[in-house]
Amino acid sequence: MENLNFYNFIESSFFEDKEIVDNLKSSPQKKINSKHLYDENGSKLFEMITNLDDYYPTRSELEILDQKNVFKKNLPEKASIIEFGSGSNKKVRKLLEALSNPKEYIPIDISYEFLKTNAKELAKKFPKIKVKAICADFNKLGSLQNIIEHKSKNLGFFPGSTIGNFCPDDAKKLLKKFAKILGKNNYLVIGIDIRKDKKIMEKAYNDSEGITAEFNKNILKGINKKTGAKFDANSFEHLAYFNDKKKRIEMHLISKENQTVNVSNKKIKFEKGETIHTENSYKYSEKEFKELCNSSGYDVIDFVTDKNKYFGVFFLKVERI
Ligand code: AVJ
Repeated sequence: MENLNFYNFIESSFFEDKEIVDNLKSSPQKKINSKHLYDENGSKLFEMITNLDDYYPTRSELEILDQKNVFKKNLPEKASIIEFGSGSNKKVRKLLEALSNPKEYIPIDISYEFLKTNAKELAKKFPKIKVKAICADFNKLGSLQNIIEHKSKNLGFFPGSTIGNFCPDDAKKLLKKFAKILGKNNYLVIGIDIRKDKKIMEKAYNDSEGITAEFNKNILKGINKKTGAKFDANSFEHLAYFNDKKKRIEMHLISKENQTVNVSNKKIKFEKGETIHTENSYKYSEKEFKELCNSSGYDVIDFVTDKNKYFGVFFLKVERI
């Protein structure tokens, strides 16, 4: 396709393996970085999660994205749209349809095959838009200097409450990094899961079809593939709950038995009942997140919610870098 280019920025696996082992040895809490949830199979499982009745965030955010006039009113025409952690095309399609004459679309995702399939589909659907797909860990991007055309306005798109994966300090660092990539007076549209009744939040991560449990366990299969480890995903159980003090959903995998697993030639010991922390999903109030944006160098130009006020979309402008 003429309007489609690919760039691969995935780093060598030597450093990745070391990071995985270090996190699995960390005491008192063993961890696996949540980005490993999003391998090819994990991205597909997550896509299934977004369609579940129990998982309210996607449905609520799509309802917001349907307010086309709000997007058109707040955002520039002929923009280069950069999506951090692009996943499926469902949301960006709505954004592209709402904007006037979008010029380029730059999806960034860690899963190569998933990115390729989605970028191709989008380039075909929008032949006038130049698609530059970047396979990378968006948190490790220094800049996109050679890829972004600086003649146009940049519009960062970070939907889905992906920012919730980062603790507030890291979220601030990431927002500052995005500000640098986008440049002063450019825009960022970001989706946030608003804190609400605990039962509603916990149900979204303990769905009755068991897809979230499968998604969580799949992280071990991914680690096996990547490092040659021998995790038995069935010897762990899914756990997800809201941590009131830290204002976040935590996902863990609980070991069903005492066991030792070899990972990259290191022996990792688990006691029965011990957990691996696999993901955080921070939930904010409107005020808390606004303050985080302001302290990261952005002006909030608009804030929109769905009818239940479950989810929020912030329209930000880079004020200082
Ligand atoms: C993709 C990080 C936004 O936190 O809701 C969904 C991931 N994990 N169910 C979220 C997730 C379990 C999701 N994010």
